[in-house]
Amino acid sequence: MTSPTIEWSPALALGHAAIDRQHQKLFDLAADMVGDRDQVRAMRTLAALSEYVIVHFRDEEKLLAGIGYPNLAAHKRLHDTFRTRLAKLYGNAGGMTLDQIAEEVRLLINEWLTQHIMVSDREYAKYLQK
Ligand SMILES: [Fe+2]
Repeated sequence: MTSPTIEWSPALALGHAAIDRQHQKLFDLAADMVGDRDQVRAMRTLAALSEYVIVHFRDEEKLLAGIGYPNLAAHKRLHDTFRTRLAKLYGNAGGMTLDQIAEEVRLLINEWLTQHIMVSDREYAKYLQK
């Protein structure tokens, strides 16, 4: 199976340097699932991704709390969805094939996270600029 690319794009930039860097790093970590890989490396990638997602969401939520973002509770719930899904994947990965893991990571990053940045993060970015 040819793996799709997982790549951050400038179209995802929110204009907040630290957050943009963190988003980029999530894509970079996930990109490790593309191409040559083995079970050990896949598990290591999932571990790194799980750890960094926690750091990133925590920082983002702290930033939003700091500016008094009115939709923070709803935004946190979206993060919870992702945290839960990733934790479940990490827990189940031992019984999955590499292609299945890679596909799930692709869905999480290329689809869920991309969508989240484009829609929900954009919303707070507008608020940040005010
Ligand atoms: Fe977010």
